[in-house]
Amino acid sequence: MSGAVLQLVGVTQQYGEGETSVSALSGVDLTVDKGELVAIMGASGSGKSTLLSIAGGLQKPTSGEVVVEGTYLSTATRRDLAQLRRRSLGFVFQDFNLIPTLTAVENVTLPLELDGFRARVARRAGRDALASVGLEDKIDSYPDDLSGGQQQRVAIARAVVGGRRLILADEPTGALDSVTGEAVMKMIRHRVDQGAAGILVTHEPRHAAWADRIVFLRDGRIIDETQRHGADALLSSTR
Ligand SMILES: Nc1ncnc2c1ncn2[C@@H]1O[C@H](COP(=O)(O)OP(=O)(O)OP(=O)(O)O)[C@@H](O)[C@H]1O
Ligand SMILES: [Mg+2]
Repeated sequence: MSGAVLQLVGVTQQYGEGETSVSALSGVDLTVDKGELVAIMGASGSGKSTLLSIAGGLQKPTSGEVVVEGTYLSTATRRDLAQLRRRSLGFVFQDFNLIPTLTAVENVTLPLELDGFRARVARRAGRDALASVGLEDKIDSYPDDLSGGQQQRVAIARAVVGGRRLILADEPTGALDSVTGEAVMKMIRHRVDQGAAGILVTHEPRHAAWADRIVFLRDGRIIDETQRHGADALLSSTR
């Protein structure tokens, strides 16, 4: 067994048909190991969100294979996919995706409750996760009563609660001030160091610097990859 939590093999994504079709991803190969955090950078429209969505099994690629913890997503049943998403995956969407009729702590604990955790155990885990992003005094607030940055932190707490093993975060620091942004990066890094694997989409070189490796996308292709120690040089040369 390799340490790979996620493998993308020859993944392509085509939107639409004929002359107006868009190649959002073209032949992307990417492996993320346990304990590894990969940052993805690239211009708007380069395919970053599409890659995350395919990696998390939220959409099927036009071609290619995705393997998460040994499960081939192309042949997995709906039930297996649902269970994988509930148990193994922590998703932070670009637009947060909080449920407006649930409080902060209810949003965070929803995946745990769906997975059969007892309500009290789930609530304790949810409170701890919210406290770790500095929201201990907002656990019973509804999303509409929170600022954009606070909503983003709730979404991050939800993505790491209950020991999720593959964290897929789409610009999780986009709406945050720099201090909170650093705290969020620390939290993701900590979860990965505990044995998860992570992909982080970011425009911020200083947040990408938390990753073990940076992958650059352009027009749906990986154009460059760096190991941790090469990251600074590559970042400054592409700026
Ligand atoms: N549902 C869709 N239907 C048609 N085209 C789409 C769809 N989703 C994305 N695209 C196109 O695919 C390409 C990649 O989009 P994607 O959202 O993955 O980019 P991104 O790198 O996440 O951009 P951003 O930094 O702006 O979030 C873009 O050209 C986009 O217009
Ligand atoms: Mg995007």
